[in-house]
Amino acid sequence: MESDARIYVAGHRGLAGSAILRRLKALGHRNILARSHAELELTDQHAERKFFEREKPAYVFLAAAKVGGILANNDHPAEFIQSNLAVQTNVMHEAWRSGVERLLFLGSSCIYPRDCPQPIKEEYLLTGPLEFTSRAYAVAKIAGVEMCRSYNRQYGTRYLAAMPTSLYGPGDNYDPAGAHVLPALIRKMHEAKAGGLDRVVIWGTGSPRREFLHSDDMADACVMMMNLPDGAFDGILRGPNDFPLINVGCGEDQTIIDLARVVASVVGFRGALEFDTSKPDGTPRKLLDVGRLRGLGWSPRVDLRTGIAAACADYPARENGDAAQRRQEMTSKT
Ligand SMILES: NC(=O)c1ccc[n+]([C@@H]2O[C@H](COP(=O)([O-])OP(=O)(O)OC[C@H]3O[C@@H](n4cnc5c(N)ncnc54)[C@H](OP(=O)(O)O)[C@@H]3O)[C@@H](O)[C@H]2O)c1
Repeated sequence: MESDARIYVAGHRGLAGSAILRRLKALGHRNILARSHAELELTDQHAERKFFEREKPAYVFLAAAKVGGILANNDHPAEFIQSNLAVQTNVMHEAWRSGVERLLFLGSSCIYPRDCPQPIKEEYLLTGPLEFTSRAYAVAKIAGVEMCRSYNRQYGTRYLAAMPTSLYGPGDNYDPAGAHVLPALIRKMHEAKAGGLDRVVIWGTGSPRREFLHSDDMADACVMMMNLPDGAFDGILRGPNDFPLINVGCGEDQTIIDLARVVASVVGFRGALEFDTSKPDGTPRKLLDVGRLRGLGWSPRVDLRTGIAAACADYPARENGDAAQRRQEMTSKT
């Protein structure tokens, strides 16, 4: 991507999109297109068409999506499937109509079967039943992967589907109703410490294993891929089983118990950790095989403890302001 290329970051106020925006700005890109949800409703195909016809981006990072934790996914499956299908369908189709050169679609590791072998290789897609709690979201994301494949086959586009592991970073969502496990733990520990509580209750058994990647590392990997020469980019598009699919992770996981201990130690919460086993665990293990990404010479830079410490330092400040506003502040500082 040339420094003056028109690059559209859809979802630039979100955790992933804001990190991609920061990375692009840090690399000196000065022709970045970004519209907030209020400015451009991506489920509105007419508005989307007008935007692409007017702005004609050359590159698109599709980081806009309706995203949430187990609770939100379990309680609002209709919204998760409808909204995500509409957003990705509109963006990809209008990108093709307007002649976008390359598009990177962000999905999620929940597209893979619940009980597939670990670490999870890209070729395991569509080989078994999905985790029930996030099935609607996962099916929408799988449809996005298939759209990338189909548009590439029929129209000769260069659409790549990148599947990041669980992300965390500046401007994460700490809302108890929608937060993922790591920001939820950070919130609980902070509140327990501030309230002088002697225990924190954590959902599930604590035994599931999870992998986490800092959003800045994810953004670095995505921008690196978008910048590959045509031959190398086309090589990733020819993924296993004909899917233009690549995992984005750090290649290491830990149990929720161990994760909770790290967060407690970083926050300085010294009370007990209790596990509410009446709540669902979700998939027992989710570790991505990142061999394809490593094969491109990329590896993450932010280790988990350092990243958690930075997120914890960010948390009290964020609680005093709007999440999207904080991401904007982080972005404008870079
Ligand atoms: N967070 C993770 O751990 C994680 C892990 C793996 C993959 N991913 C993937 O990364 C992508 C982004 O996730 P995220 O965590 O960055 O989510 P996020 O923080 O919730 O950000 C999503 C962004 O998309 C925007 N958006 C949603 N629906 C929209 C619509 N209909 N029209 C316009 N804008 C809309 C949101 O705007 P509003 O907030 O104003 O609605 C928000 O700025 C998703 O595809 C997700 O699957 C995330």
